[in-house]
Amino acid sequence: MRPKVFVSRIIPDAGLDRVRAACEADIWLGEMPPPYDTLCERVRGVDGLLCTLNDRIDAGLMEAAGSQLKVISQMAVGYDNIDVAAAKTRGIQIGNTPGVLTDATADLAFALLLAAARRLMEGIEYIKGGQWKTWQPKALLGGDLTGATLGIIGLGRIGKAVARRAAGFEMRILAHSPSCSPQEAAKVGATLVDMEMLLRESDYVSLHVPLNSQTRGLINRETLTLMKPTAVLVNTTRGPVVDQQALYEALTQGIIGGAALDVTDPEPLPADHPLLELPNVIIVPHIGSATHRTRDKMATMAADNLIAGVMGQPLPNPVWT
Ligand code: DGY
Repeated sequence: MRPKVFVSRIIPDAGLDRVRAACEADIWLGEMPPPYDTLCERVRGVDGLLCTLNDRIDAGLMEAAGSQLKVISQMAVGYDNIDVAAAKTRGIQIGNTPGVLTDATADLAFALLLAAARRLMEGIEYIKGGQWKTWQPKALLGGDLTGATLGIIGLGRIGKAVARRAAGFEMRILAHSPSCSPQEAAKVGATLVDMEMLLRESDYVSLHVPLNSQTRGLINRETLTLMKPTAVLVNTTRGPVVDQQALYEALTQGIIGGAALDVTDPEPLPADHPLLELPNVIIVPHIGSATHRTRDKMATMAADNLIAGVMGQPLPNPVWT
């Protein structure tokens, strides 16, 4: 009998075809993710679950699935939506999709940085609003990248890829990353410093830490106050790494200069959220990994983790070994 799996969203065919070929697959066809209670019902009796960052995967869900559940395969690199301890206790393997989205996410972080520095959104609104009358010597002036300081918090795969891009723009690169050695940082042109120095000296600060109990609210009233009044904060990791109320206050009180966010708390951000009113804020809908090639690779990796897990084999990309 083929293993039974539940796939919580329609993922790219590159992955879905593999799942369908190897498993008895129940696939959620909705545009919105399944509500938690529905997810609990649909996973009952499955051997494997392929899920996304939208799904809350906790002990209750694992109980609802039953003791035959062998693997949870997340189609993302981040897995803060999954109760890892609960899965470990039950002997359930967890897989994720590291590496394949590094460049796409670093590209987006850089696109946001450039867009904020050069006020692209304001320029677009200026034209659409009919305000563009002539070339203006003093209109829409932004910040330079060349020679400016970029502070990278979290010099892992994506942080390093951002540093490589920044080196091409001849930026000075500071990084704060407790698990990285100075030699490793130097390979991407970055100098390791403490968090306070990074925040005080950076013109742009880009966040690349995973969301966990240590990083939740890492950027808060206190840390924002250390930043330059002209500094731009870029977040492409997870919304709750930033205390959003503190960010709103910092942006409206001139404590920092701007923010460019791919991630928010909550997601989606309500259309009437005050942050969306601010001219010095750019927000895009969690699209860091959203390229055709990257999403195909993520779907393929997630499928391979799922299939290995239901077959009782080690996962190609386990969250722990
Ligand atoms: C991830 O993989 O964690 C991203 O946030 C979505 O691609």
